[in-house]
Amino acid sequence: MRQHLKIVPAPLTSFVANVILILISTTRYVLDHPDLFRGRRVLDLGSGCGACGVAAALAGAAAVTANDVDPAALAAAAVNAELNSVDVLLSSEDLLLGDPRAVDRVASDFDVVLAGDLLFDAEVGSAVSGLATGYVADGGVFLLGDPGRWFLAEAANRTKMDNVGVATLACVAKYELSESCKRDHFGFTAGFVYRVFPP
Ligand SMILES: C[S@@+](CC[C@H](N)C(=O)[O-])C[C@H]1O[C@@H](n2cnc3c(N)ncnc32)[C@H](O)[C@@H]1O
Repeated sequence: MRQHLKIVPAPLTSFVANVILILISTTRYVLDHPDLFRGRRVLDLGSGCGACGVAAALAGAAAVTANDVDPAALAAAAVNAELNSVDVLLSSEDLLLGDPRAVDRVASDFDVVLAGDLLFDAEVGSAVSGLATGYVADGGVFLLGDPGRWFLAEAANRTKMDNVGVATLACVAKYELSESCKRDHFGFTAGFVYRVFPP
């Protein structure tokens, strides 16, 4: 039987629609692939309400950290961890736009990084791609959830996603939305999960 979890969404205004879409897709992927997470140290980067991290904890991760710069998101992540009876550490440090050396710590402290719907603007998207590049070069597993945002499409057009060669992104899952769900998601039709590989 498929595993499910209980989740309350973070009170994110403009992000709500996409959060729900990508949240479901990336979280579903984690629950369906527990072997990738069991015994691993997992970072849920830009965690929002922390559903992906909670799923990783349910999958048997050794430790999970939900990281977000929005205190409301971390508060929701704490509630969701409690709702699902798992431990999730909370981090408000800006690992993307703060100290550039934070990337080295991510590489040494985590075996798997989950980045759900973080390609929403050029600044954060570029920081995510830079982090992913360095991270996978060291052998880490980096998973991106994306609903088909412009950042990735433009990256494909110019053949490079800043530091990450597009060829290094492998789509590992696609989750089609139901017709009613599509109507609620402003033109997005599916959620995609990509794994980043070294160029
Ligand atoms: C579109 S939501 C995605 C939430 C969740 N990962 C998901 O899949 O639904 C983007 C999240 O990134 C967070 N965020 C934005 N900039 C960030 C940064 N520099 N470091 C960490 N989180 C950040 C926002 O606060 C928000 O919770």
